Amino acid sequence: MASLIRLGVNIDHVATVRNARGGALPDPVRAACLAEEAGTDGITAHLREDRRHISDEDIERLMAALRVPLNFEMAATAEMQAIALRHKPQAVCIVPEKREERTTEGGMEVAREENRLAHYIAPLREAGCRVSIFIAADRAQIEAAHRIGAEVVELHTGAYCDAHAEGRLDARDRELAALREMSAFARSLGLEVHAGHGLTYDTVKPVAAFPEVAELNIGHFLIGEAIFRGLAPAIHEMQRLMEEART
Ligand code: PXP
Repeated sequence: MASLIRLGVNIDHVATVRNARGGALPDPVRAACLAEEAGTDGITAHLREDRRHISDEDIERLMAALRVPLNFEMAATAEMQAIALRHKPQAVCIVPEKREERTTEGGMEVAREENRLAHYIAPLREAGCRVSIFIAADRAQIEAAHRIGAEVVELHTGAYCDAHAEGRLDARDRELAALREMSAFARSLGLEVHAGHGLTYDTVKPVAAFPEVAELNIGHFLIGEAIFRGLAPAIHEMQRLMEEART
C-alpha cells in the first residue's frame, strides 16, 4: 500500500561534512542511494549560490544515480533556472537564499514578487518539473503561490520547531495551529502541501498528522541521527513516527 505521507530526505549536510575537509568523503550521493534503499520516497538537495554544501557535480551524479525523484532546491536566480532546465529534476522547490544565513531562515515573499516569479516558474513547469514554493504558513503567500501557478507549497516548520526546542510552548502551539489551518487552506485551493525545516522525532508527529500534508522534507536531524544509529535506522524511525501519526 502506498503510504499516505511521503518522506523526502535532504542530504545537504553529508556534503557539509565532506566540504569541511575538502576531498570526496563522505559522499552525499552514497547517502542518497542508502536513503533510497531504506525506502525514502525522494531525495532533496539544495544547490546554494555559494556551493557551501551540494556541488554542481553532486546534482549531476544524483540525477544519474537515483530512481526516486530528486527535489532540487534552489533560489529564484537565472543561474539556477538554467541548471534546473538542463537536468529537469522531477521536482523543484524555490527557496529564498541569503548568503549570510546559516540555513534557509524564512519563506519566499511570493506576494511581493508575483509577476517575476510567475514568469520564472513557467519554463520549469513546461519542462515537466513539479514546482513547489517554500513559504511561511501565511494566507497571502499561499494565495500568491496559487496565482503564479505553483502546484505545491512547502510550509516552513522552522518557527514551530524552534519554539518547541526553546520550551516556548504557547508559541509552539500557535505555530502549529497556523500550520494546520494553512495546510487545509492551501489544499482547498488545490495545492499539494509539503512541510519541512527543523523537524525531529519530537516534532514530526503533529505535522505528519495533518491530513492535507502529502510530504515532509527532513535533513539536518536525520543526518545527525545517522551518526548514532546509522542512516537507514534513522530514516525508518522517522517513517514509523509519520505513519503512526496518520493512523
Ligand atoms: N525544506 C526546505 C525547503 C529546506 O530549505 C530545508 C533545509 O534545507 C528543509 C526542508 C530541511 O530542513 P532540515 O535540514 O532542518 O530538516
